[in-house]
Amino acid sequence: MHRPPLPSFAWMSRICLTLTVLCIASFFLSLPAQKHISAMLVGLSYLSFCLQTVRKYRDGQVTQQHGFSAELDQGDPQSILVAYASQTGFAEQIALKTAQHLQEAGMAVAINSLAAIKAATLNKSKRILFIVSTTGEGDAPDNAVAFTRLLMSQQIDLSHLHFAVLALGDRHYQQFCAFAHRLDHWLRHQQAHCLFDMVEVDNGDEGALRHWQHYLGLISGHTEMADWSKPGYQDWILTERELLNPGSAGGAAYRIACRPAQHAGSSALAWQAGDIAEIGPDYPPDINPASNVPERPALPHREYSISSLPTDGKLELLVRQMRRPDGSLGIGSGWLTAHAEIGQSIKLRIRENRQFHTPPQDCPLILIGNGTGLAGLRAHIKARAIHGHLRNWLFFGERNEAYDFFHREEIQAWQANGVLSRVSLCFSRDQAVRHYVQHALQEQQADIREWVEQGAAILVCGSLQGMAEEVDRTLSNLLGLDKLEHMAELGLYRRDVY
Ligand SMILES: Cc1cc2nc3c(=O)[nH]c(=O)nc-3n(C[C@H](O)[C@H](O)[C@H](O)COP(=O)(O)OP(=O)(O)OC[C@H]3O[C@@H](n4cnc5c(N)ncnc54)[C@H](O)[C@@H]3O)c2cc1C
Ligand SMILES: Cc1cc2nc3c(=O)[nH]c(=O)nc-3n(C[C@H](O)[C@H](O)[C@H](O)COP(=O)(O)O)c2cc1C
Repeated sequence: MHRPPLPSFAWMSRICLTLTVLCIASFFLSLPAQKHISAMLVGLSYLSFCLQTVRKYRDGQVTQQHGFSAELDQGDPQSILVAYASQTGFAEQIALKTAQHLQEAGMAVAINSLAAIKAATLNKSKRILFIVSTTGEGDAPDNAVAFTRLLMSQQIDLSHLHFAVLALGDRHYQQFCAFAHRLDHWLRHQQAHCLFDMVEVDNGDEGALRHWQHYLGLISGHTEMADWSKPGYQDWILTERELLNPGSAGGAAYRIACRPAQHAGSSALAWQAGDIAEIGPDYPPDINPASNVPERPALPHREYSISSLPTDGKLELLVRQMRRPDGSLGIGSGWLTAHAEIGQSIKLRIRENRQFHTPPQDCPLILIGNGTGLAGLRAHIKARAIHGHLRNWLFFGERNEAYDFFHREEIQAWQANGVLSRVSLCFSRDQAVRHYVQHALQEQQADIREWVEQGAAILVCGSLQGMAEEVDRTLSNLLGLDKLEHMAELGLYRRDVY
């Protein structure tokens, strides 16, 4: 495989080599008393030369060692490239895990360091997962320096490329995941399409890495693969289950309520609007318990937006029943909506989801969602009501008003008592022409702009396919891409889409 020289390493190596030569020369020229200092300098500079060389060599070896190709099979439309930039090895390790996961799910995967990614690679790749850390004070890792300098300074048409970014960083640093943000920004400005939103990992947070795994399941079509790390679940009790859309043309959607088991303690009831419940599903009860069932592997976690607040005294979810091609129920939604019994113990862990927490200021709020996306928005509306922030505008989309108006009484009560100052409902199938939330945004564009000029924040929750993409495009058209990006940087445009 052709591996062109890496400028930063090459220069560092040259400098180290020159220093070594200078030190050797000074050893012979120096007085006997100074010889031990010169000898020490020779040793040190030679050691750094060796380190640079080893890092450069190792960077090129990771793909071969694990049997992955460094180049994609362009004939295979399902193929995917995993590109990493790593300073101390963590991003590289996660890139390998990602590649192995996708390969086990049957995909053709290539993996390479960002150092080896050239314009030609970007031009011919259709899908790339970027796994990058940040080093220094918001800097790119060494093996991304050439990519940053040579490619990220250019305009390249990447409208054929679908990408996602896993950002590894540490919140103790002022510029959290800064390199990943610069990369993401650049890719979007080259017209590349994101497969899903950037996943930020603070100091190796395993919950965030499981969230990344959720998306790997969707990309590969294999959602049943084992978790990389088991969540530290607590015991909760399933207390309520209510079908919210009897007669609906869509999948059954349930309100699910849980409370912590007695021994879990009151600290279990602690989360913020926007947080996520990680659920540990179990297998359906065996219909023939006498039979000798072999031990089965633990099922992977599932994530659900929490739709209530601790002040409600219970944790509520809004869960849509999913079905596999053979008609059987999905692992997580089947467990919560059908298999687990009321009063039964549920394994649950709360994952803090800062990216979807309440915007920092007391500003007007535009909440946009469809289907079960109402869950995440509902928790925010409840929080706004408690804090007396009453300038809230809800856009909600579902199929038919008669069957799919989840939490109708509650929403109407919020409208009546002023918690929701505006509500725009889009029941797509109640008229001949389909009408979705993005159409409502378009129709209300003058008022949306006015709200945003007055400092409004925007929250989007619900399906990635269809809704979130279209809403993003519509908002970009209405407000301008730069404005929307600036709002995202300020935490005024937040999404939780899946
Ligand atoms: C941050 C986050 C928040 C979420 N919040 C909610 C929520 O509030 N309510 C809710 O109902 N779900 C929510 N989900 C989705 C949820 O985690 C599960 O993916 C969903 O319940 C399906 O899981 P399952 O185990 O039942 O189905 P699986 O056993 O994984 O799959 C069953 C079938 O459904 C298909 N499938 C699975 N997921 C999708 C998908 N996203 N789109 C299309 N087909 C799919 C599979 O390919 C398969 O054919 C959220 C996901 C994330 C990442
Ligand atoms: C010297 C140093 C500087 C760092 N600077 C930042 C930073 O500016 N921003 C950030 O989010 N994380 C920063 N980090 C944290 C790393 O990005 C994080 O530990 C990451 O998981 C490392 O991945 P890697 O081993 O692939 O380089 C820094 C870490 C080190 C050791």
